[in-house]
Amino acid sequence: MLAVLLTALMFSQGLSMDSRGTSFITAFPENVAFYFQKTYNLLKITTLHPNTAVSVIEMASGNITNSAAGNNGTILTLNFSKDAEEYQFAFSNKSIRITSDKNITVLSMSGWEGRFQSRVVQPDQNLRTVYQIPALNYTKIAASFNLSVASNVTFLNFRLMIINAVDGDNSVTIKYGDGSGQSQDTIALGPFELFQMQINGSEGEITATDEVAVILTHPCLDTVNCSCNMVVNQLKPQVSDRKVARFPVPSIFGVKQLFVTTNQAFKVCQGVFNDANSIQVQKSVDILPLFPNFLSSALLISTNIGVSLRLISPGLILDLMPTSMFSGCFLVDFNSSRSGALVIANTSSTTGVKMNDQPLNVIWYPLNGTEYSWALVEAQVIGTIWHPNTKIGVYMTQRLDSNIIYGSQAVALNMDLDQNGCLLTPEIFVLGQDSMNWSMSLQYCSDKYDQLATLNAKSAQDKMVLNMSLIQPTLGWIGLRRSLFTTEWYWSNNVNVNFTFWELGQPDKPEKGLCASVALDPSKKFTWQSARCCSENKPVCYSGQKYFIYSRTTKQMLS
Ligand SMILES: *[C@@H]1O[C@H](CO)[C@@H](O)[C@H](O)[C@H]1NC(C)=O
Ligand SMILES: *[C@@H]1O[C@H](CO)[C@@H](O)[C@H](O)[C@H]1NC(C)=O
Ligand SMILES: *[C@@H]1O[C@H](CO)[C@@H](O)[C@H](O)[C@H]1NC(C)=O
Ligand SMILES: *[C@@H]1O[C@H](CO)[C@@H](O)[C@H](O)[C@H]1NC(C)=O
Ligand SMILES: *[C@@H]1O[C@H](CO)[C@@H](O)[C@H](O)[C@H]1NC(C)=O
Ligand SMILES: *[C@@H]1O[C@H](CO)[C@@H](O)[C@H](O)[C@H]1NC(C)=O
Ligand SMILES: *[C@@H]1O[C@H](CO)[C@@H](O)[C@H](O)[C@H]1NC(C)=O
Ligand SMILES: *[C@@H]1O[C@H](CO)[C@@H](O)[C@H](O)[C@H]1NC(C)=O
Ligand SMILES: *[C@@H]1O[C@H](CO)[C@@H](O)[C@H](O)[C@H]1NC(C)=O
Ligand SMILES: *[C@@H]1O[C@H](CO)[C@@H](O)[C@H](O)[C@H]1NC(C)=O
Ligand SMILES: *[C@@H]1O[C@H](CO)[C@@H](O)[C@H](O)[C@H]1NC(C)=O
Ligand SMILES: *[C@@H]1O[C@H](CO)[C@@H](O)[C@H](O)[C@H]1NC(C)=O
Repeated sequence: MLAVLLTALMFSQGLSMDSRGTSFITAFPENVAFYFQKTYNLLKITTLHPNTAVSVIEMASGNITNSAAGNNGTILTLNFSKDAEEYQFAFSNKSIRITSDKNITVLSMSGWEGRFQSRVVQPDQNLRTVYQIPALNYTKIAASFNLSVASNVTFLNFRLMIINAVDGDNSVTIKYGDGSGQSQDTIALGPFELFQMQINGSEGEITATDEVAVILTHPCLDTVNCSCNMVVNQLKPQVSDRKVARFPVPSIFGVKQLFVTTNQAFKVCQGVFNDANSIQVQKSVDILPLFPNFLSSALLISTNIGVSLRLISPGLILDLMPTSMFSGCFLVDFNSSRSGALVIANTSSTTGVKMNDQPLNVIWYPLNGTEYSWALVEAQVIGTIWHPNTKIGVYMTQRLDSNIIYGSQAVALNMDLDQNGCLLTPEIFVLGQDSMNWSMSLQYCSDKYDQLATLNAKSAQDKMVLNMSLIQPTLGWIGLRRSLFTTEWYWSNNVNVNFTFWELGQPDKPEKGLCASVALDPSKKFTWQSARCCSENKPVCYSGQKYFIYSRTTKQMLS
């Protein structure tokens, strides 16, 4: 019973796609290109707020790279040598931790000339303890690619990197196998330790005592013409919601398999979910064979429960975004002339899609048989792609040398919608921790927030009331005071005093106080009263909405 309850609690939080965070863990998998050419392993860190301090720690050497406090919207890049790649099936400390004092986003890039692949490194708060291992069978995948290979060729297996995300011991159980045989191993991971294993095409489940990051990778997934492509796919934790999931399928990537991963039986439909037409499936499987004319009908897969769906095509494993993970705003980093973005939006809302502050000027194609359309965006610099009132899906794309389009989900800056762009922090009223006089409050709020609260409209007063909940009644300073000479009230930031909310009988005579406070009472009346400026109250600080603004600066992070 306890186990059931715990599981229910663990999953009830729901999965977030928000890529912002202050703590991340990742590692670089093996890239077979090494044998041919120079490979790159790099991190691209985007700061979102002013004065952000970032540290990158290589756990194996303990080397720490600190960035001087970066401005908001700066991209810090950090190259790693070939040594950073983990190619062994063993325990190691080849994990890399990224921490910051304010929200940042992190992209991991691997590749070599002409073959860059970016992957969003999920912030720690998006990691969980339970993951399903997809039963990817390379032999079947190769067959679906129609590769003409000798029958005696054996393929490399897919690999899993399990990285402990906590600074403590973590016990990880890997249940693995199918009807023909099962194995169960428990491994102990030290702080931020990593374990890499091969998977042979059987289903499995990872259950850890604390959060882990799990990366599915293959050093060399066949593309065409005897070429291959390293793939990296950070597994999303087990989704357990019982709601219908809908996945628009961008067929521009090519579709050779549609692989569902789940630990439960599920029902699936092509097109909108309809129980009567659904097909019951017992386990993780490629569902493409269930829909023989998939490409000429609705490019939408719906399932009756939350599952993971991967699109597999030569050189590519793409985690498809269900519409429940569509977001208000994405950040896309265009690395080269071959990079771009694939945007999926409701057909009726495509005109509202914006890039930075401009309407997105692209050709939209309907996703056959669905209410969605898609467009490819090409640009030279980083940008935001967002919609003021309908959530959209965005993948980063990269045209590889063989003209194959590679991709992965873009950085979700905020899942919520906002009229004005990519909202990073909503408007807030905050009560300072300590009591202090009015002038110190003024200073405190302008140091830590935007300003001491200014309530020059009923709407501002209402927002303060909504934002602040009090257990103990207390007095808080606001930015209103009166002139010693004229005794006129004025706001510290000089906006007009065209709204007041005085308590009955207030304000008192000027000699009783030249500053204004708000009575923060649990009943939330929040009326104002005058008070002596040297008396000690807690400051009521305010910060306005903050939007993402790219400053167009890229810096090499030096160690
Ligand atoms: C940091 O990011 C999280 C989402 O990951 C968000 O909920 C939070 O509000 C952000 N904090 C700030 C100060 O922007
Ligand atoms: C750690 O940093 C030092 C100095 O920057 C460098 O000489 C050394 O090679 C680094 N070690 C590793 C394992 O990266
Ligand atoms: C870092 O990687 C980039 C690939 O984007 C490459 O152009 C650059 O020369 C590398 N820098 C170093 C110092 O190796
Ligand atoms: C990782 O680092 C820790 C602390 O230095 C050490 O105890 C552990 O043995 C290392 N693990 C591996 C696999 O080297
Ligand atoms: C796969 O290859 C066979 C022959 O090698 C060919 O007959 C068949 O049309 C190919 N299928 C596809 C989908 O290309
Ligand atoms: C595979 O078979 C071919 C001939 O059928 C042979 O030349 C080749 O050496 C074999 N490869 C391996 C790895 O056994
Ligand atoms: C894959 O490995 C597991 C665990 O070792 C084993 O139980 C299972 O039978 C293997 N499957 C195949 C097809 O080899
Ligand atoms: C993978 O597919 C091949 C060919 O279909 C099959 O022989 C093999 O048993 C499969 N392996 C697993 C683990 O299912
Ligand atoms: C969409 O449908 C049109 C006509 O129905 C067809 O010409 C086109 O090839 C289809 N597109 C895809 C991606 O299947
Ligand atoms: C594969 O190679 C052939 C011959 O060199 C070329 O014509 C074809 O375009 C290549 N295919 C791809 C997808 O690059
Ligand atoms: C109140 O004052 C502000 C700022 O001085 C001004 O923009 C606003 O129009 C005024 N509102 C009314 C109702 O007078
Ligand atoms: C970022 O900095 C610019 C000035 O450099 C400022 O106008 C903007 O509001 C800042 N954005 C955030 C989110 O702090």
